[in-house]
Amino acid sequence: MDAVNEKILVLDFGGQYNQLIARRVRDNNVYAEIKPYTVSLDEIKSENYKGIIFTGGPNSVYDMSSPHYDKEILNLGIPVLGICYGCQLICWMRDGKVETSDTREYGKIDMTVDKKDSVLFKNVPDSIVWMSHTDKIVEVPEGFEVTAHSEHCPVAAMENVKENIYAVQFHPEVTHCEYGDKILYNFIFNICKCSGNWKMEGFIENTVKALRDKIGGKKVVLGLSGGVDSSVAAALLSKAVGNQLTCVFVDQGLMRKDEGDFVEETFTKLFDMNFVRVNCADEFISKLKGVIDPEDKRKIIGTEFYNVFWNKIREEADGGFFAQGTIYPDCIESGKGDADKIKTHHNKVKMPDDIKFDDVIEPLADLFKDEVRKVGELLGIPKELVWRQPFPGPGLGVRIIGEITPEKIRILQEADAVFRDEIKKSGIENELSQFFAVLTDVKTVGVMGDHRTYDNLIAIRAVTTDDFMTADFARIPYDILARVSNRIINECDGVNRVVYDITSKPPGTVEWA
Ligand code: XMP
Repeated sequence: MDAVNEKILVLDFGGQYNQLIARRVRDNNVYAEIKPYTVSLDEIKSENYKGIIFTGGPNSVYDMSSPHYDKEILNLGIPVLGICYGCQLICWMRDGKVETSDTREYGKIDMTVDKKDSVLFKNVPDSIVWMSHTDKIVEVPEGFEVTAHSEHCPVAAMENVKENIYAVQFHPEVTHCEYGDKILYNFIFNICKCSGNWKMEGFIENTVKALRDKIGGKKVVLGLSGGVDSSVAAALLSKAVGNQLTCVFVDQGLMRKDEGDFVEETFTKLFDMNFVRVNCADEFISKLKGVIDPEDKRKIIGTEFYNVFWNKIREEADGGFFAQGTIYPDCIESGKGDADKIKTHHNKVKMPDDIKFDDVIEPLADLFKDEVRKVGELLGIPKELVWRQPFPGPGLGVRIIGEITPEKIRILQEADAVFRDEIKKSGIENELSQFFAVLTDVKTVGVMGDHRTYDNLIAIRAVTTDDFMTADFARIPYDILARVSNRIINECDGVNRVVYDITSKPPGTVEWA
């Protein structure tokens, strides 16, 4: 939607760091987009790219099931940088020699720069790089020269200056590569000659203009969850078309303490829009009555949410557009051989067939999460929302074990609020990826004053993780845990014991249900 005047293509051959490559390029204020290796050469030619980066990928270029590409791509006159498998692919395309070695070179490796005046290595001394390969180049193609090596890798980098083709066996995009950012900078600015003018301020300006052009005088409806993506989409649309925008916010009563009110206050006070809040806690509670099985609860919450949300949208829909907070990782086609399949993701909502809009608008579909947050901050969304930790769709429904009742929701909301408050005060909030309280289905005996108590057990959970696929339980200092425990028991009626969850993922999941 944003009109981009210079961009770099990240051609995806199925490696694991491909999104990281695009993000690193974008850190330099140059737009990068990822396309699977199945994209046609004609499409590449039509896009006017300033540079192309071949990513890593499966092991051997001689294995014909590995992804390859039309060799013509090297003759387009567009600068190319090959990384890892991409480096070997360039070698193979130009009839150099790649060999499988006996040992895999993996991890931090010392690299020696052989060509000190290589433009790619400007301001890059002999240094540590990150390697992960088994095959290696043993003979560079005609017209290429070796520019760096390591102990076990005779060609850690090579280049053909005349044709603007560069290749590195290592991964400059990962943080373990000491001068990786310099190498990418050199490629982007000194080789591709980009100017670096893609900034979030410009993105907002261009997107607002594009949204106004597209929407005209029509209406837009957006489902607002209070999560980062939909909140930023709402703020952006509000800036573009003000009260032509209606946000539908479903409060199913399973949010954290005061969260529904906070979301409503933020969007009604700070942004021009129609804000429709659907309060349906009672309906949800009655549907969940007597339900114990976690999967059944998830299904009921999901179905009920779908019905309530779309019924409201049906009421609000009046032609015009439906908007959603889809972000770039939800849309990227992978280069792992399933290029025609776009990952299904909760941000991509399936609309009932009877609801018709002119079109769907996804104003954040080109942005990574960190960029979405930057846009949110620039648009004046409070930090609490922009930096909000992930919160599951079924809300506290997956954090109450056993039957869900209003009383249990109250207890959990209070305990969770105390925990979050203490973490915030202790200054370790940014070190944790996610932290919350769980209401177990256990009661234990305790003593308060002279009285014996028999009350609820609260578990607290905090994890650190990069991607939520695996997670480590956070090593929160004991004195912080002690304060949390004291305050929860003193301030939350109905709780007399607190435990800390010391399970990592796997074997545990982050959520308890
Ligand atoms: P698990 O429990 O699977 O959680 O280890 C991994 C991450 O996903 C979040 N999560 C959900 N998010 N809908 C969501 O939008 C869900 O049903 C859901 N279940 C888990 C969880 O909070 C964690 O961040």
